[in-house]
Amino acid sequence: MADHVRRLSTEKNVAQVHSFHSFIRSTDADDKSKVATLYDDWTSYDEDVQKVAYKGPSESGVMVSQYCKDKSISILDCGSGTGLVGEVLYPHGFKNVTALDISQKSLDIAKAKGVYSRLICTQAGKHQMPFEENEFDALVCVGCFIPGHMNQEVFPDWLRVVKPGGYIFLIMRTSYLQEGEFKGQFDQAIQTHVDAKRWVKVEARVIPEYFDMFEGVGFVFKVLIVDKRLEDL
Ligand SMILES: C[S@@+](CC[C@H](N)C(=O)[O-])C[C@H]1O[C@@H](n2cnc3c(N)ncnc32)[C@H](O)[C@@H]1O
Repeated sequence: MADHVRRLSTEKNVAQVHSFHSFIRSTDADDKSKVATLYDDWTSYDEDVQKVAYKGPSESGVMVSQYCKDKSISILDCGSGTGLVGEVLYPHGFKNVTALDISQKSLDIAKAKGVYSRLICTQAGKHQMPFEENEFDALVCVGCFIPGHMNQEVFPDWLRVVKPGGYIFLIMRTSYLQEGEFKGQFDQAIQTHVDAKRWVKVEARVIPEYFDMFEGVGFVFKVLIVDKRLEDL
C-alpha cells in the first residue's frame, strides 16, 4: 500500500483527507496508471469522505431527480469510483445506471453494492468512451473534475453519448475552477458549446459545505445537438 494511503487509513482524520487532496491534485492527467493506482490503493475511500461530510453524491440524487422524472432512463456515472453516486440514485428509483471509472478496484467495490447495471473500466477524456452515440439519457460526473484527473476535454465525448434533450450533471469543488487546467479554460469550453448550440447551461447551483468547509458547484446542461458529427470539436 502506498505511504499516503497507509497514513490515511491508519490516522483517519479530516486533516489527513485534506492532505490527501493536496496529493491527488499533483497527479498527471496524462498518466493513466498514476490516477488509477491512486484510487486502486485508496480502499478506505468511502469512510474517509464520509468524515468530511462529502455532499457530492447526495446532491447528485437531488439534481437528477429534479430534472429526470422518468426513472427508467439510462444514466452514465462518469468517474463512478466506488459507487457512492449509484448508491444514492438507486433508491431514488434510477436502476439503469452504467458506471465508468479508470480504477478497476474502485469498480469492484461499486459492483458489490449492486446498484449499477454495467461497469466499465476505462479512461474518459483522452479517447472516446466505448459507447454509441446517444446511448444515454443523462450523464452524471461527481467529484472528478480535480486537477490531474478529468477536465473539460471530456465535453465533446459527453455530448456524443448523451441524447439531444438529455441532461448532463457536473458537480465539483468551486475553488478548482481557478486552478491548473481549469483556470479560464473550463468556462471557455462551456461557452464554446453554448455558442455552437450543442448544449444550454441550465444552472450552476451553489453547494455550501460540499466537502468539509469547501463550497461546491453543480452544473446542469441540456444537450441540444442532433447532428453528432463532432470532428470539429
Ligand atoms: C474523487 S473520486 C469521485 C468518485 C465518485 N464520483 C464520488 O463522488 O465518490 C474521482 C474518481 O475519478 C476517477 N477518474 C479520474 N480521472 C478519470 C478519468 N480520466 N477517466 C475515468 N475515471 C477517472 C478516479 O479513478 C476516481 O474514482
